[in-house]
Amino acid sequence: MSAAVATETRPRRLGAGGRPYRIGVIPGDGTGPEVVGEALRVLDTVREGFEVELEHFDLGAERYLRTGETLPDEELVRLAGCDAILLGAVGDPRVPPGVLERELLLRIRFELDQYVNLRPIVRYPGVKTLVPHHADTDVDMVVVRENSEGLYTGGGGFHRKGTPQEVAVQESINTHHGVERLVWYAFDLAMRPGRRRKVTLVHKTNVLTYAGDLYQRVVDEMASAFPDVETDYAHVDAACLYLIEDPSRFDVIVTDNMFGDIVTDLGAVIQGGLGIAAGGNINPQGISMFEPIGGTAPSETGRKTINPLAAIGALMLLLHELGQDAAADRVDRGIRFAVSKMTSMRAGEMGFSTGEVGDLVIEGTSA
Ligand code: IPM
Ligand code: MN
Repeated sequence: MSAAVATETRPRRLGAGGRPYRIGVIPGDGTGPEVVGEALRVLDTVREGFEVELEHFDLGAERYLRTGETLPDEELVRLAGCDAILLGAVGDPRVPPGVLERELLLRIRFELDQYVNLRPIVRYPGVKTLVPHHADTDVDMVVVRENSEGLYTGGGGFHRKGTPQEVAVQESINTHHGVERLVWYAFDLAMRPGRRRKVTLVHKTNVLTYAGDLYQRVVDEMASAFPDVETDYAHVDAACLYLIEDPSRFDVIVTDNMFGDIVTDLGAVIQGGLGIAAGGNINPQGISMFEPIGGTAPSETGRKTINPLAAIGALMLLLHELGQDAAADRVDRGIRFAVSKMTSMRAGEMGFSTGEVGDLVIEGTSA
């Protein structure tokens, strides 16, 4: 599919009183279908004043093992015709590493130009984590991770592979356009209600003197266009330390693709674990895809032990992106209610089964 199709600006905020929202659903592999099932039950509960049409996609390891296909072009076109996409998880130990990541997940991100990877990191009151916390509100930030370039573009190659003289080059591509649209998104987000108007650039400008310099210059330029936003900078290694020791210093973090991948897993730890960590692959002018970031959890598959809150959190982000804030707020209330009853966010230690956690969320949505 051409990038022109992928990046075409489409009207999205339809649905209320108009045609139904078309939500693409990729349950995927492992525990993906279980957690997506709970998210769809919640969607059915909070859907009020707008209609939804689900479009199912059979994509992931099972299809690849059956047919050899990862993402046929016609499926990509069908995805591009949705208003938003909900993804469970894809992956399987029987598929060589890199195949589904590159040909399915990253291909969707790139072709639909989902250039922001949005990871809210919030610790809900009462959630226990591996690190000490000072207050119930000390973890409340959003990571705006670049999602369309950097080390993820796959540039580079081998020279003399398999010989003692082997050379492996892995290039990081950073464009002014790509950095600017990302940084703009971060500053705009920092100004939205509920945020604290602070943007922290996380990079490694002391070593990555080209890419880091570009990011810092764009942040400095943007700061003059957003005089109400305070800006800050942290090297990525120091940022990892602050995330544990003093997370309250962060409001909006903006960072590149690889650093963002790493710090958001650490972010999941300080919010209670992968069981509750959700993310969005956002194209603000196009079609966005939302996912629990925990993966397929093969050891939990089929046991009704997996925590569905991350997928339900992904649904909440999806509803916000569609402009259905009232429905999203109901999901948020539901999650908070469920959390207040659960003993842990970890699979098998929640005090409830997957479906029972879904029930608690549904109960909490009408509180
Ligand atoms: C994530 C994942 C992906 C990434 C993998 C599965 C390619 O770790 O969404 O953070 O590295 O972006
Ligand atoms: Mn990751």
